Amino acid sequence: MTTAHAAVAKRVSYQLETLWDFDYEPTHHELESLYETAKKNQWNASTTIDWSRPVGRDGPVLNVHVAFAGTNFFSRLTPEEQKEVEVRVSAWRLSQFLHGEQGALLVCGQLVNSIPELDAKLYASTQVVDEGRHVEVYERYVKKLHKIYPVDTLLKSLIDEILASDLWELKLLGMQMIIEGLAIAAFNVMRKQTADPTLADVLDYVLQDEGRHVNFGYFALRRSIPEMEPAKRAWLEDFALKACDAMYGRDERTGFQSVKTVWHEMGWDGEKIWRDTIANSQTTKVFNRLLFTEVLIPRLQRLGLVSPRVEPRYREIGLLA
Ligand SMILES: [Fe+2]
Ligand SMILES: [Fe+2]
Repeated sequence: MTTAHAAVAKRVSYQLETLWDFDYEPTHHELESLYETAKKNQWNASTTIDWSRPVGRDGPVLNVHVAFAGTNFFSRLTPEEQKEVEVRVSAWRLSQFLHGEQGALLVCGQLVNSIPELDAKLYASTQVVDEGRHVEVYERYVKKLHKIYPVDTLLKSLIDEILASDLWELKLLGMQMIIEGLAIAAFNVMRKQTADPTLADVLDYVLQDEGRHVNFGYFALRRSIPEMEPAKRAWLEDFALKACDAMYGRDERTGFQSVKTVWHEMGWDGEKIWRDTIANSQTTKVFNRLLFTEVLIPRLQRLGLVSPRVEPRYREIGLLA
C-alpha cells in the first residue's frame, strides 16, 4: 500500500449534528441504573490485571486442539506447527479485537455528540472510558504475544459505514448491537479456549463492560424505533441484514477472511484451509450459534428490525429456520 492509500484507508469523512440537551429531564429510566453500574464497576487496566506473568506460562493462549476440532488440516500438523498456529491465530484474533475496540471508542465519541438526550450522552461518556480501557488491554496483551495483524477488511468496512453515517440510530444499531454482539460471541469463544490466566482475566473484565454496552443500545433503540419514520427504519433493517449476511462466514465471499494471512504466512494453501474451517470447524459452528441464534437475531426480532420485508432473506441465508 502506498503512503497516500494508507492515509485514505485511515480516514473517514462524515457530517454529524452535535446536539445540546437543555431540558435536563431524564428520558431513559433504564439508563439511570446502567449509568450507576458503569460508574461503580470501573477498573484500572494497569492495576486490576497482573501483567507481571509471562504470557502463556501456565496454559496455552489458545487450546488449538479445541479451536480446530473437526477440521481436516489440523491433525496433520507437527507439534511445532501446531504451536506456531496457536501463537499466530491468537494474535490475529486479538488484533481484530483491538481494532474493533478502537472502532467502538471512535463511534462512542460520536454518540456523545449526536444522541439527543443528556442521560444517554452521560451513559455514552462512560462507554468512551470503557472502550479506551479495552484498547489499552488488548494492545498490551497482543504486543506481548506476537505482532499486531492488520484490520480485517469486513470489520473495517462495517465500522467505517457506522462512523460515516449521520444517523445516531444506525451508530447504536451498528456498534452497540451488531459489532458488540459479534465481540461478545468472539470473546466468549476465546475465553473458553484459553488457559492463559492473563488473557482469561482480560476477557472476563472486558466482557463485564460489554454486557452493559449491548443493553445501552437495546434500551435506546427500543425507545426510538417505534416512533421512527418508515424510510429510516427500512435503512436500519437493511443495514442489519447486510451486516449479518456478510459476517455469517459460509463461502468465499463472507466472513472474516483475513485469517488467511496466517495460513499464507505459514506457507500453506489459505483458500483450502478456509473452506475446511467454515465447513468442518466446531468453533465456527459454536461462534455462529452464539452470535446469530442466541444473541443477534432474537434481539433484532425484539426490536422489530426483522420485518416481513427482510425476513425471507434471513431464511434464504440460513439465519432463520
Ligand atoms: Fe469494548
Ligand atoms: Fe463495548
